[in-house]
Amino acid sequence: MGSGKCMTLLTLLAVLGMVMVDKVGSQNYGDALSKCILFFEGQRSGKLPSNQRMIWRKDSALRDGSDLGMDLLGGYYDAGDNVKFNFPMAFSTTMLAWSVIEFGQFMGPDLQHALDSIRWGADYLLKSTDLPGKVTAAVGNPIADHNCWERPEDMDTPRTSYVVNQTHPGSEVSAETAAALAASSLVFKSAHHRYSILLVNRAKEVFEFADKFRGNYKDSVGQGVCPFYCDWGSYSYMDELIWGAAWLFKVTKEQKYWDYVQNNIPNLPRRVIRLVNGDLQAAKTFAEFGWDTKDAGINVLLSGLVMNSTSAEPYVPQADRFVCSVLPESPYKSVTYSPGGLLFKPGGSNMQHATALSFLLLVYAQYLKKHDGSVNCGTFVAAPSRLEQIAKGQFHPSFILVMDRSPKFGSISSDNCPMKTHIRYGSGGFP
Ligand SMILES: *[C@@H]1O[C@H](CO)[C@@H](O)[C@H](O)[C@H]1NC(C)=O
Ligand SMILES: *[C@@H]1O[C@H](CO)[C@@H](O)[C@H](O)[C@H]1NC(C)=O
Repeated sequence: MGSGKCMTLLTLLAVLGMVMVDKVGSQNYGDALSKCILFFEGQRSGKLPSNQRMIWRKDSALRDGSDLGMDLLGGYYDAGDNVKFNFPMAFSTTMLAWSVIEFGQFMGPDLQHALDSIRWGADYLLKSTDLPGKVTAAVGNPIADHNCWERPEDMDTPRTSYVVNQTHPGSEVSAETAAALAASSLVFKSAHHRYSILLVNRAKEVFEFADKFRGNYKDSVGQGVCPFYCDWGSYSYMDELIWGAAWLFKVTKEQKYWDYVQNNIPNLPRRVIRLVNGDLQAAKTFAEFGWDTKDAGINVLLSGLVMNSTSAEPYVPQADRFVCSVLPESPYKSVTYSPGGLLFKPGGSNMQHATALSFLLLVYAQYLKKHDGSVNCGTFVAAPSRLEQIAKGQFHPSFILVMDRSPKFGSISSDNCPMKTHIRYGSGGFP
């Protein structure tokens, strides 16, 4: 159930890029952008502010964290459920921040709403890391929640808090949280300087905790997050650690974070393991980007900092390799395209791939343009405009897409709810 939210969150990101690239179609893209950002208000948990625009949502989950004596109010619900999964929520916050860093100047009146959506995530991540040596991984029992379709305002399922610590670590959730806090600090650097300092200082502490106490959170808080947002594989947190360090380097320019990236890049697993239709499958990591795999994002992000410098390797060649794994005419293509042009990759919630990869194409195109660069895929050379074209193809109204509509949730029942009275009705998300 969780991945539906990722799909919707990530759809936003590529829309943000399109606003910039296609000013001619800006009316439609602008409307899509407004609605995507509004979506985040529908997913808000906790005490809602007076400027809440989606007013049919009310306060909910006002005791989150009380089982551990923590204040964990706020954050975002996941997909069509009422769980707060910190790992994908932190990734969404990182990506919202990256979107604003790259394209915020083109968002017009929606920029303030985008900033509010980042702050709503960042405030919750600050609470999630308020106790040194602890990072919140999730709030809400996912099994009980998924069996019980209620709106958050009425829910009566357990609000268990799942927290990783020094003896039960979770480097992926911790390092992604550090990345989100660091990226958010950059967004608020000039307008909210003190808040920005708070965020970056917390990011540094949380990164240190993630690195020093290494482990997979599935071994620490498994039942709270698996199988929904498990990061499979034995060193599957290595990409988040490098991603966290890369963001901290981008934000602070401190040499130690650059050294961390350089020293650990050789330790990245070459393959990612993920759950596809109930089976664990492996994929080559350099072509992957999503809530559980950061590799292509690391290479694109760092390419923006080192392109045409002596430090360009391995980041720029690997980012090029990623692009060549996506372009339809490439001999190295590792994705498929639907007849209408939609990019498709194995795994759940295909739109998360289409949108996350489109976002990287748009960002990389900007970096290439800045350096007068292009991507050599062996049999042809792709100009930045080609990358933008493919990204646009994922959104353009003339591409009518036929999606697999196989029913994911056959029956909706309230039999498993403690009170057996409430049937959930839609709060955005899926289906
Ligand atoms: C870490 O968490 C586990 C269970 O989540 C708990 O049993 C353990 O006491 C905690 N350790 C510390 C140092 O807080
Ligand atoms: C940067 O490097 C690329 C090749 O990687 C080259 O095509 C481009 O001209 C270079 N740009 C500048 C400004 O030197």
